[in-house]
Amino acid sequence: MGELRGTHVPVLLERCLELLTPALELPGAVHVDFTLGLGGHAEAVLERFPEVVLVGLDRDTEALAHAGHRLARYAGRMHLVHAVYDELPRVLEELDLTEFHSGLFDLGVSSLQLDEADRGFAYAQDAPLDMRMDQTTGFTAEQVVNEYEPGELVRILRQYGEEKFATRVVSSIVRERQKGRITSTARLAELVKESIPAAARRTGGNPAKRTFQALRIEVNGELATLEAAIPAALDALAPKGRLVVMSYQSLEDRIVKRALTARTRSTGPVDLPVELPGTGPTLRLLTRGSEPPSEQEVAENPRAASVKLRAVERLDRHDGTTGAARERPRLSTTHGGQGRLRPGAREEGEGEA
Ligand SMILES: C[S@@+](CC[C@H](N)C(=O)[O-])C[C@H]1O[C@@H](n2cnc3c(N)ncnc32)[C@H](O)[C@@H]1O
Repeated sequence: MGELRGTHVPVLLERCLELLTPALELPGAVHVDFTLGLGGHAEAVLERFPEVVLVGLDRDTEALAHAGHRLARYAGRMHLVHAVYDELPRVLEELDLTEFHSGLFDLGVSSLQLDEADRGFAYAQDAPLDMRMDQTTGFTAEQVVNEYEPGELVRILRQYGEEKFATRVVSSIVRERQKGRITSTARLAELVKESIPAAARRTGGNPAKRTFQALRIEVNGELATLEAAIPAALDALAPKGRLVVMSYQSLEDRIVKRALTARTRSTGPVDLPVELPGTGPTLRLLTRGSEPPSEQEVAENPRAASVKLRAVERLDRHDGTTGAARERPRLSTTHGGQGRLRPGAREEGEGEA
């Protein structure tokens, strides 16, 4: 196994730790890293919180092997599990745990997946068209590109890649695959480039970026998994527990925002002066809108450039979510005035695609 340690700077590490610290300091705290990757964030948690137990999930067996190697000295208080992150309930049950206190989702692709050319995630390097995060199962990008109906391919490129020239890209894919199977990332990247009008090619970086993003999302079922995973995580979050989610594109961030904000609002009748049992908010937002990285963070770690961070805290059981009806606060608890707005932070709904 190659030594990858040091090649990867964990994104917004200090901010994540700052937000999670009160939860990591709870007695018997369990931290779930839903996207263990190379274990950068997890290592910092284990190092700085000597009592914390880590449950680290990843669907990529190679990432788990690297993280296991890196974190070996903490073997006595960690469980690394090969799982898709929406499988948290099963994982917790198997570990005899009913809840966790601190959690982190650092979505997207790891440095390992991007840097190891043969995984097929990078449009800048030639490799077989694979793109599976879990190479032990599922279908590859090669199957999507060569076997999907053209209409379905157009939908994927539009919806998951926000590719304006989806029809043109798919027409050239279809012409090419009539001659022979498209098997390499370089050939696909070339086809995309040729299909995009020259004027559009001059802006917005590599024209293959959007097609590759769309294929990766399709191959890994990323959005549906995330949509199931956030509510599953919130259901298992202990009172006063905290969850931080970092997404790197607007489709993911929209799912995260919806899932988090839904639980910061009352589900009871709007005209009642009291909160009925079980209808009150169960979360409070720790960030207002999504937090972008600072310029310094981007300068130090270009992979942080597109990150959007959101964080929440699970309300205590006696904060009005259970038990008898209690008087509603006069002000909406959606933000509770407690979120700290960092310089440049976006308000809800702002900057959405
Ligand atoms: C950006 S990396 C995480 C990097 C990590 N925070 C670190 O410090 O090294 C994202 C990781 O999440 C994993 N991943 C993505 N989607 C997943 C899913 N649905 N279930 C489990 N792991 C997933 C990827 O395989 C990848 O290793």
